[in-house]
Amino acid sequence: MVNKVVIGAQWGDEGKAKITDLLAQDADLIIRYQGGCNAGHTVVAHGKTFKFHLIPSGILYKGKTCLIGNGTVILPEYFEQEIDGLKKENIDLSGLKVSPLATITMPWHTEVDGYSEDNASKGKIGTTKKGIGPTYTDKMNRIALKIQDLYSDEALNEKLDVILPIKNKQLEKVYGLKTYTKEEVLDLCKKYAEIFRPYVCFEWQELLHKFKKEGKKILFEGAQGVMLDVDFGTYPFVTSSNPVGGGAATGSGYGPTVINEVIGVAKAYVTRVGEGPFVTELTDETGNLIREVGHEFGVTTGRPRRCGWFDAVTMKYACLVGGLTSIALTKIDVFDKFDEIKICTAYKDKRDGKIYNSYPTDVYIHKYLEPIYETHKGWGEDITKVTKYEDLPLNARKYLERLEEILETPISIVSVGPDREQTIFK
Ligand code: GDP
Ligand code: IMO
Ligand code: MG
Repeated sequence: MVNKVVIGAQWGDEGKAKITDLLAQDADLIIRYQGGCNAGHTVVAHGKTFKFHLIPSGILYKGKTCLIGNGTVILPEYFEQEIDGLKKENIDLSGLKVSPLATITMPWHTEVDGYSEDNASKGKIGTTKKGIGPTYTDKMNRIALKIQDLYSDEALNEKLDVILPIKNKQLEKVYGLKTYTKEEVLDLCKKYAEIFRPYVCFEWQELLHKFKKEGKKILFEGAQGVMLDVDFGTYPFVTSSNPVGGGAATGSGYGPTVINEVIGVAKAYVTRVGEGPFVTELTDETGNLIREVGHEFGVTTGRPRRCGWFDAVTMKYACLVGGLTSIALTKIDVFDKFDEIKICTAYKDKRDGKIYNSYPTDVYIHKYLEPIYETHKGWGEDITKVTKYEDLPLNARKYLERLEEILETPISIVSVGPDREQTIFK
């Protein structure tokens, strides 16, 4: 039994869903453990493209159990939409389960997120406006609703009597937004209870116990990426959960002892959506070329992704704090026609020439940092049909081996295209 966690090792959109989908083939239970519908996960199977936000990417295989864990935040209307979309595609949803401990994103959370983004004169984060930050804030502040509350009149009544006076005061006085009556919220909750009824898993403890006891294979699917982690990322330009490997322990119901491997997914270059520092960002023709060839536009918001060269400084940091046992390197095919490929191996402070070989966590100095690159020769051929590592062009192999050397972490998977088949297991 090898239980694996798949996490993003950069700023999200690394191709986690592709890797999760591939590994899900051999897994019995797939758990999405943090984040919410801020995530946009793409799986291409048999030439068909599927986009997921909350539902684990393992759902495409029949007979697997797919759990949305306690660490997630769920926007009910979005969940419903995603379910309807999958039903239209005749995807079997009988294995889909939702933890009763997952937190609900209420309308005020998305309204506050939207308001804060639209009215920020300084410090705009560039969020997905899906209410992620405000929902996690209320969870930590102990004034959030959990899925299980929807099925208990007592819990709902008692909690809303605490939550609503606080929320309404905030909504009105801080944001100048519409307030909510208890009747309105109870009506909403009735609707939400019906949305989740077929999926809520009150027997989650027995379920998790059974899978563990029977030695079944468990796969954890992360969302976002290490550099968006609320503790370790480029704070405050981050999301509000823990995309690092450790998040799988707190967000699933399994402790850290069931985890055997953490696979960090990274692109052969770096992208970022939203605001925040990005030392290797390319705002020139090369950046545009990467965006064009790599189709770098957001799945959830459609925003063009910022693009830049591979940043081995942040990646080394991600290997450490993410707890990576290996790397899945995706999208190397995007460089098929590039003459040269760069890797950033250190940063230099423009002010005093100070060299940073390790990632500086004070992001307010990042604007003074310039990347120090080493340059590698491209391979100049189409690698999208290569299925064996030995069949990769020499320059591609040299490039991968150099990355392993710098990162002191093995690359276990190389992805050469979006489809399931376009994968090399090393
Ligand atoms: P995720 O959020 O980490 O699951 O990644 P996204 O789905 O947001 O973005 C990754 C995009 O890259 C998707 O459109 C994938 O279909 C695509 N993709 C994944 N791996 C590869 C690859 O190796 N090569 C190419 N060209 N595209 C890939
Ligand atoms: P996947 O799982 C890329 C970014 C947003 C913003 C910041 C905070 O597809 O990799 P939030 O709405 O979470 O409060 O926004 O985080 N962000 C992502 N960027 N991929 C994602 O998910 C992201 N989820 C959030 O753009 O900068
Ligand atoms: Mg994505």
